[in-house]
Amino acid sequence: MSQPALPVLPPARHHIGGSWAQPSGGATIAVEDPSTGQTIGDISAGSAEDIDAAVSAAQQAMYAPGRERWTPAQRQGALLKLADALEARAEEFARLESLDAGKPIFNTRIVDVPGAVAALRYFAGWATKLTGETMELSAPGNWHGHVRREPVGVVGQIVPWNYPLMGAACKIGPALAAGCAVVLKPAEQTSLSTLRLAELASECGVPPGYFNVVTGFGAEAGAALVEHPDVAKISFTGSTLTGRRIAESCGRQIKRCTVELGGKSPVIVLPDADLDAAARGIATSIFFNSGQTCSAGSRLLVHGSVADDLVQRIAAIGAAMTIGAPSDPDTRLGPLISAAQFARVSGFVASAQSEGATLAAGGALDGAIAGGRGHYFRPTILADVTARMAAVEEEIFGPVLCVARFETEDLDEIAAFANDTSYGLASYVWTRDLARALGLIDRLRAGTVRINSGGGNDFSMPVGGVKQSGSGRENGRAGIEAYTELKAVTMVY
Ligand code: NAI
Ligand code: MG
Repeated sequence: MSQPALPVLPPARHHIGGSWAQPSGGATIAVEDPSTGQTIGDISAGSAEDIDAAVSAAQQAMYAPGRERWTPAQRQGALLKLADALEARAEEFARLESLDAGKPIFNTRIVDVPGAVAALRYFAGWATKLTGETMELSAPGNWHGHVRREPVGVVGQIVPWNYPLMGAACKIGPALAAGCAVVLKPAEQTSLSTLRLAELASECGVPPGYFNVVTGFGAEAGAALVEHPDVAKISFTGSTLTGRRIAESCGRQIKRCTVELGGKSPVIVLPDADLDAAARGIATSIFFNSGQTCSAGSRLLVHGSVADDLVQRIAAIGAAMTIGAPSDPDTRLGPLISAAQFARVSGFVASAQSEGATLAAGGALDGAIAGGRGHYFRPTILADVTARMAAVEEEIFGPVLCVARFETEDLDEIAAFANDTSYGLASYVWTRDLARALGLIDRLRAGTVRINSGGGNDFSMPVGGVKQSGSGRENGRAGIEAYTELKAVTMVY
C-alpha cells in the first residue's frame, strides 16, 4: 500500500480576529517530526506584541460598543458545527496530529480526534443551560434579588504537547460556551492541529476575535499572556513547575487561574483483583501515548501474593506493543515528543537503577527505528522501587511503571502508601470487594478515583487535582462554571 501524502501544514502565522495574522517579528520555531528528529516546517515564535494584538481582538469581540450579541443558542450552534466539521475532516486532523506529536495514527484516529469532537459537543450543550439564581431577601420592604452568571472575560489558555487537539478542544469548549473570548497558546512542540482548529472555527461561525491562537515559546508568548492586564483568567495545563510560576503571577495580579498539573498516580491491586483485567488496564494507563498522560497510573502498589503474576502479565502486554513509525496503522507505541523528553525519561530510569531498582522490562531503544533518530522508549517496568527514589516521587512522563509491593490487608496502611506523594491527580484500585473499594475511595487523596478501570474519560466528569497536582477543575459543570463570574443584583421596589 502506498503511503498517503503528508498533510498540508498550516502557515507560520497566528490566527487572530478570525483570520491568519502576520507575526510582529520574523522569529520562528522549527516543527519537528518526533519519529525522525527531522524539521518538517516552522511556526511563528510569537511575541508580547502578538499576544497584545490577540487580546485586543478578544476584548473587541466581547466588549466593543455596539457589537452584536453572541447568544447562547448561537454559541451552541457554532460549537456543534465545529464538532461536525472536525468529524468530517477527522482523517486529515488525525494525520496532522500524528505527524506533529509522534502519536501512532491508531491513537489519533480512536482517541485524539473523536475525543476533541465529543468534548466540543459536550460543552456546546452547556451554552444554553447555564443559569443564575433568584433569592428571597429578608430585609424589611420590597426587595428583589438575583444572581447572574456572566462570562469571566477574556481568557488566556495554555496547553501542553501531550494531547494538543483534545487539550485545545477541552479548553475552548467551555470558555466559548460560557461566552468568553479566548487567546490560546499551544505548546511550541505541537501547534499545528490547534492552528487548523482555529481556522475551522471561523469557518463554522465562531465570530472574529472569540478564538485566537498565538504560537510561541512559554517564556515569551506564554508569559506575556499570563501578565496581560486585559486577560481576566488563565487556564493552564502542564508541568507543576510552570504551573506554580503561573499561579504565582496570577495571585499577584488577582487574576482567576485554573492549573491542571502533573501526577504520580498510584494503582492499588488487592489480592482478590481480576488480574487479567488489571494487567490490561494498568498497561494501557501507563503505556498509551508512551506514558505522556497526566493521569497515567505510574506507581503500581500490588499485594505481594499476586505481584509476580501481575508484573509478568503487564510486561507481556508491553512487549507485544508494536513500536514503529506513527504513520503505520499497526504501530501502538510511538516516540516520545522530543530529545529533551527522551533524556528526562532515560535519566529517571538510570537513577532508579543506580539506587537499587530492577529493570524488569523495557528501557531505551537505540537505533533501528525510523533511521535510529526518533526518540523511542520501550514499555518499561522498574521493580523493587522505594518511596524516596526520584523515579517514584517525580512525574516521568514516559512509558515507565514503578512497582512496589505491600503485604498488609489494612486499608489505612495501603492508603497511606498510595498517598505518600506530593501529587493528587488520579488513583486506581483493582478489587472485586465492594467494601474495600469504598473504603479506599474514602481514604485516597486525589481528584479522581477509578475502580477496576485504567482510563477512559467522560467530559461530564470533573478533572483536576489536589495537592501539587493543581487547583480548580476542568470538564463537567465545575469546568464550565470556572469560566463564569457571579454578579449579585438587588433591587428595591
Ligand atoms: P511546561 O509545563 O513548561 O509547558 C506546558 C505549556 O506551558 C507549553 O505551552 C509551554 O509553552 C507553556 N509555558 C512554559 N513556560 C511558561 C511560562 N513561563 N509562562 C507561560 N507559559 C509557559 O512543560 P514542558 O517544558 O513542555 O515539559 C516539562 C515536563 O513537564 C515534561 O517532561 C513532563 O514531565 C511535564 N509535563 C506534564 C504535563 C501534564 O499534563 N501533567 C504536560 C506537559 C509536560
Ligand atoms: Mg512537533
